Amino acid sequence: MTTFQAPKGVPDYIPPTSASFAKVRETLLEAARLAGYGYVELPVFEDTALFARGVGESTDVVTKEMYTFTDRGDRSLTLRPEGTAGVMRAVIEHGLDRGQLPVKLAYAGQFFRAEQPQAGRYRQFHQVGIEAVGVDDPAVDAEAIAVADAGFRALGLTGYRLELTSLGDATCRPEYREKLQAFLAKLPLDEDTRRRAELNPLRVLDDKRPEVRELVADAPLMVDHLSDSARAHYDQVKGYLADLGVKFVENPRMVRGLDYYTKTCFEFVHDGLGAQSGIGGGGRYDGLMEQLGGQPLSGVGFGLGVDRALLACGVEGITPGDETRCDVYGVPLGEVAKSRLVGLSAPLRAAGVRFDLAYGGKGLKGAMKGADKSGAKFALVLGERDIEAGVAQLKDLATGEQRPVPLADVVPAVLEALAR
Ligand code: HAM
Repeated sequence: MTTFQAPKGVPDYIPPTSASFAKVRETLLEAARLAGYGYVELPVFEDTALFARGVGESTDVVTKEMYTFTDRGDRSLTLRPEGTAGVMRAVIEHGLDRGQLPVKLAYAGQFFRAEQPQAGRYRQFHQVGIEAVGVDDPAVDAEAIAVADAGFRALGLTGYRLELTSLGDATCRPEYREKLQAFLAKLPLDEDTRRRAELNPLRVLDDKRPEVRELVADAPLMVDHLSDSARAHYDQVKGYLADLGVKFVENPRMVRGLDYYTKTCFEFVHDGLGAQSGIGGGGRYDGLMEQLGGQPLSGVGFGLGVDRALLACGVEGITPGDETRCDVYGVPLGEVAKSRLVGLSAPLRAAGVRFDLAYGGKGLKGAMKGADKSGAKFALVLGERDIEAGVAQLKDLATGEQRPVPLADVVPAVLEALAR
């Protein structure tokens, strides 16, 4: 019979790595929680039009990468390729923007993009994100950046850098775009690149080919053409980052794959990851909420790649989670012992001890093998003679030392041994 494999480009996380995956997600979310972001759990599919309008009709994400399907009611739905549009939809739908501002929300979950799979680039991937909606204050931009940085630091990561730039605002961006297009029009670019220059000239600045790089080396840059207010905003973000002790490098050629960004834009880049080096990114989005039918309020946020952050941990030799699955492993020798250990599992677990035991009538050897594989620190061995003596044997699996503990006191004895 044929067996099944996960769809192309979709990773499985299985023990023991899955524990580290969960820990990365939890650590990044905790950084958001510490800055007052409330958790939201939003649908993984939404109206297709939400993403088309929110993310941008001309982006690769919308034109090439969406998982779109028609449901039984003939509605066009799309698996979310990113989180910001959905959060905006929920903020507007529930009127959260009519309360205290900024609305600060955090989320974690799966996102879907039909990209060409490669190391660190998946079709289903996981992000932890935040959005702070409703206040156009550069201190909030700096806070978002600092939260991401704190999350990565809390994982123990050090081999990354924060890149920062400003994409300007509604007054200076159109003017700059024209200037850039005029500059690009004079260059001997190939047909494809020329078309890109028409649609999204900023992308050409980010072209990785050396010959194109050389051609655009003297291109005008947005940061040199900022309006007074966009310039002031950018300068203040940098000032607050200094207050927060967050280091950054400016990258005036940064291009983000989503259309909604204005003013502050940032990316966290890890040097050990090869081509897919972006472990997180975000920025401010001035017009998005209005474009989605809400008030003209701006917002700022980020999405951090959980899969890539875990890969970065691997590169830096960090194991984020406790990859063992239990603390104590029961080894029953015989039916009576088994029933006693089954009975002990409830109070042990209630006391917070991760407890598992050998099922399936294994002998001593097989059960001890299970104990070793489980990652437990101790085995709780129980034989008929032990029961007669009213004890269980607590065996330290690292040293091999074994000592009897009274059956009536197993829970405190185990807790004490684990605390040592
Ligand atoms: P993004 O830069 O498209 O931004 O994605 C954020 C992060 O998700 C990336 O830096 C990367 O770590 C991870 N990521 C993206 N695509 C993949 C993939 N195919 N496989 C693995 N990881 C991936 C956003 O999605 C924005 N919504 C972030 C944001 C929130 N901006 C403002 N608020």
